[in-house]
Amino acid sequence: MENPKPADAASCPTDESPKNWEGKFEEVETGPQGAVPPVVQFKNVSKEFQRGKERFLALRDVSFVVENLPDCGEFICLLGPSGCGKSTLLRLIAGLEPHFPPSSGEVLVGGKSVAGPGADRAMVFQDYTSYPNRTVLKNVEFGLEIQGKPKAERREIANSWITKVGLQGHENKYPYELSGGMKQRVAIARTLAVRPSIVLMDEPFGALDPETRYAMQELLIDLWKEMQSTVFFVTHSITEAAYLGDRVYLMHGPPGRLVEEIKLPRPEESPLEVESRADFREVVALLKSKIHGKSETTDR
Ligand SMILES: Nc1ncnc2c1ncn2[C@@H]1O[C@H](COP(=O)(O)OP(=O)(O)O)[C@@H](O)[C@H]1O
Ligand SMILES: [Mg+2]
Repeated sequence: MENPKPADAASCPTDESPKNWEGKFEEVETGPQGAVPPVVQFKNVSKEFQRGKERFLALRDVSFVVENLPDCGEFICLLGPSGCGKSTLLRLIAGLEPHFPPSSGEVLVGGKSVAGPGADRAMVFQDYTSYPNRTVLKNVEFGLEIQGKPKAERREIANSWITKVGLQGHENKYPYELSGGMKQRVAIARTLAVRPSIVLMDEPFGALDPETRYAMQELLIDLWKEMQSTVFFVTHSITEAAYLGDRVYLMHGPPGRLVEEIKLPRPEESPLEVESRADFREVVALLKSKIHGKSETTDR
């Protein structure tokens, strides 16, 4: 299957997902196309880069639909080996050059063709993109300043996000004084404080040690349940994708293709606890078998 079919958009995955991992996962079937425009839609999107005299196909004919579900956003994990176009796909949604615009096809957000970056979409990168000359508080306030929020309001919002991500007491520290996990908490707080409807995360936990990574995965899910934004989360890690994702978009490449959409149940346990469950491990093994041979994807 070169391009997966649209997802079943009938229900909110957080409410409806089976809590039991038995029955594992289903491949996504064609579902109803509602009147509300999809959150994100790719229509036969390809992206070519010029490499010297050669042209290089980074993404080939990618199509998918993320439906607008009532009062909730989906958590979508992009899983695949290095170079299969995961970052390219994310940056096309963000409208960021040089990946944007696509060479052919169309990227739609909320039913409208993406024309560039916008406040409705925000990105979190692996490399802790905080402003080095701003304190934690000032970093979290940054987007709110851009939005033109009055000082008292932005301070209140920033402080509440600092508490949510567990950084209270560190408000006046500078990024160089923080560990990697803490820096990534700042990046997450700063990104979510402006309440984007789409959060784009490019291997945000890739540089963290395993313990910190577990903690960050759990924190992210807690925040996402409250926010209900649509999240696109790029990862190399099969277990991370299996834990976080309502759906996994499995990619192969180059040239980057979306080969399968897989719907997963949402576990209630912590990432550490769920890994001891036989049924979760089965799902991980199955995902592994689906990408095996074509990828150097590693786990954690
Ligand atoms: N700006 C660019 N110019 C040329 N080639 C690029 C550029 N960005 C990405 N590529 C190539 O496109 C392919 C997909 O890249 P990327 O989306 O970063 O993959 P992934 O995130 O899955 O590792 C890679 O082969 C990469 O080298
Ligand atoms: Mg990448």
